[in-house]
Amino acid sequence: MKCASRSSARIAKRIQEQTESLIQFHAPSVVIPPRVFTHAIEDDAFPFEEISHIAEMESWRKEINRPLSHIHKWWAQRLGTVFRAVVLGTLAPKGSDVLNLFYSSVRIPHAIIFDPFMGSGTTVVEALKLGTRAIGRDINQVAYFLVRNALAIHNRESILSTFHDIQRDVAPLLSDLYVAQLSDGRRVPALYYFWVKTIPCPECAKPVDLFSSYVFAQHAYANKFPQAHAVCPSCGGINKIRFDTVEAACTVCKKTFNPKEGNAKNQLARCPSCHHQFPIAKTVRAYGTIPNHRLYAKMVLLPDGRKEYLAADVFDEALLSKAQDLLALRENPYPIVRIEPGYNTNQALGYNYQYWHEFFNPRQLLCLSILSERIREIKEPALRDLFVCLFSGVLEFNNMFTSYKGEGTGAVRHMFYHHILKPERVPLEANLWGTYKSSGSFSTLFQSRIMRALDYAARPFELKLTNGNRKTTEKVYDLSEPIGYKCALTFDDFNKGKRVYLSCGDSGHTDLPPKSVDAIVTDPPFYDNVHYSQLADFFFVWQQHIFGRDNNDTANFTTRSPCEVQNSDPDAFAARLKAVWQECYRVLKDEALFVFTYHHSRAEGWRSVLSALMEAGFGIVAAHPVKAEMAVATPKQQAKEPINLDIIIVCRKIETLHRQRWSNDLWGDVISVAANQIARLYRSGRSLSRNDVRVILMAQLLRQLSVSMSATEALCSLDAKAKDIEMAINSLCQSDSQNQIQRKLSG
Ligand SMILES: C[S@@+](CC[C@H](N)C(=O)[O-])C[C@H]1O[C@@H](n2cnc3c(N)ncnc32)[C@H](O)[C@@H]1O
Ligand SMILES: [Zn+2]
Ligand SMILES: [Zn+2]
Repeated sequence: MKCASRSSARIAKRIQEQTESLIQFHAPSVVIPPRVFTHAIEDDAFPFEEISHIAEMESWRKEINRPLSHIHKWWAQRLGTVFRAVVLGTLAPKGSDVLNLFYSSVRIPHAIIFDPFMGSGTTVVEALKLGTRAIGRDINQVAYFLVRNALAIHNRESILSTFHDIQRDVAPLLSDLYVAQLSDGRRVPALYYFWVKTIPCPECAKPVDLFSSYVFAQHAYANKFPQAHAVCPSCGGINKIRFDTVEAACTVCKKTFNPKEGNAKNQLARCPSCHHQFPIAKTVRAYGTIPNHRLYAKMVLLPDGRKEYLAADVFDEALLSKAQDLLALRENPYPIVRIEPGYNTNQALGYNYQYWHEFFNPRQLLCLSILSERIREIKEPALRDLFVCLFSGVLEFNNMFTSYKGEGTGAVRHMFYHHILKPERVPLEANLWGTYKSSGSFSTLFQSRIMRALDYAARPFELKLTNGNRKTTEKVYDLSEPIGYKCALTFDDFNKGKRVYLSCGDSGHTDLPPKSVDAIVTDPPFYDNVHYSQLADFFFVWQQHIFGRDNNDTANFTTRSPCEVQNSDPDAFAARLKAVWQECYRVLKDEALFVFTYHHSRAEGWRSVLSALMEAGFGIVAAHPVKAEMAVATPKQQAKEPINLDIIIVCRKIETLHRQRWSNDLWGDVISVAANQIARLYRSGRSLSRNDVRVILMAQLLRQLSVSMSATEALCSLDAKAKDIEMAINSLCQSDSQNQIQRKLSG
């Protein structure tokens, strides 16, 4: 007894020492000796509930709370809060108070963290903020470009003066293309133009507007602010109505119409002239050309700062044709690159978009051409690259795939809202240079993206719940040093002492020496969801254009690669993932942790991960649920039961683990650990969908399988358990609802 308590006191003291040295601001290197400690993240006590609360607050305004990773669009960006906690838990010894460390000035100078799927650099940024050294690699040039820019050393004054030079040179030209004429002849800025796609009726050939509703503008909180605007289907007049009106008399032509009933309903359209009904997508495909766009309204900025909706007129038409003429005069004005078929591009191809530049109207192309040419002239590479990032933001918000979010919110719904490239029936064209009342423009994005990111880099902060309240947060500053590095471009260079090494390429092959990294913290692509390169090419073709790449070589204009971990076939996906994880195994120190986040609603998604992981030589030692960056609702089945959780999966090299026996009781401790995690989440006030329960259970099942059996046995066992899994989810969901009822009764 005595002996045991003395040794536990010794361990406690050692943990305290380790933890103290970890949180000292200028601490010397913290050596976490191999085989001595397990880490905080391997322990059930890892505070995933509290981390989820903070992460949730971050998720509401990701671009504001982690602006550095948002200087350029990337997909499925993870929450910095979660990865700060993961990096801490991965390096701090078991027994550490992770939440206390979370709000401490931690420095872990000699640990090297590697993220083989770096994306927008969430892991790398969080690791650097904790004073580690970091290696990030991504196969996609756009992701690499983003992170390189985010981590570079920037000079605020030069950036501001470059912006002002660009403003002087191009703002007048661009602003002149977004002007409206009022009825009294005064000219004012046009903030937004409203367009509708039209297709000829297959029966009578008359153009059919694809409005689903004639209400084109209403407030985001319509019940509170009920005034809306509708366009009259007979004369095009703009009418002020209540948002839920079903019968309106046009103030211009006096005809009555139902503002809620446009010609298009879901997949079908009805011709107003001959009443023929036809399928929209099929008809568009049969015509073989992109549907026409008709300009029907605009929002103008009046001299007194008010905004007003007006019908489109001949002045607007003339301005558009002027833009078209000017565009025709330009040499090599924009990249002309074909869109290749793919999971994320097929929908646009189905609407006969064949080239990336066809996503824009001529006025947008003209403005983009002028801007891109001006950015190309910036001499200093670091500055030019940063403005290329900003230019990508402009691409994202200024094309014919964007739509109107309405009043009371940032007006432009950007093109990647749906993850896929979904053609928009009622596109919104924003004023590309922008005004002080714009959103999504070059000048406003300069403030909201670039300047905000510079502020964050100069003084990073964490969010903290105010007095434990889950609705409000305060910012905690001065936990991390400013961000800005000369990044190494090879491992040799990194080895000379640089803090960060970034590279672009397949993480199935790296130049890292064997057993050289202290932890891998990553977030792999999820089977079958986002095909990054197919989407990133939208930006990449313009970046290559600005950098003057040869247009004749199409390979220069795509980020697609056969090594990208993404495939609609689960076995191909698993094989690619395994290649990267085998490399992770090679470069990871033997006693180090390999941690990644994951979730999936379908069995194949979990199977792929398990097979890749085990065949690469890893076993799972812990799995914790945590708030995901957003509810995922892309595949149909997920829409009803969205997954709000990611699972943090903690692995070690299998030979460093004691094999466990799969007990005769089918689930061993799978169910009890899952039930305990579910109860903890409920107690913390979180509600869970059936798919949330599923991911918690699947992760625990994978954990148990991965350390009890060979890879082949584990996969067979997983396949054989499909029914049992569903039954277990049922029973967990039932006990959850009992939990909830009890909580409500006692609360
Ligand atoms: C889920 S994302 C990472 C997102 C990141 N955690 C963030 O917060 O932005 C996965 C990334 O893996 C990259 N990727 C896919 N296959 C790869 C490979 N073979 N080697 C390196 N990176 C790859 C993709 O380009 C993508 O950026
Ligand atoms: Zn017709
Ligand atoms: Zn009318």
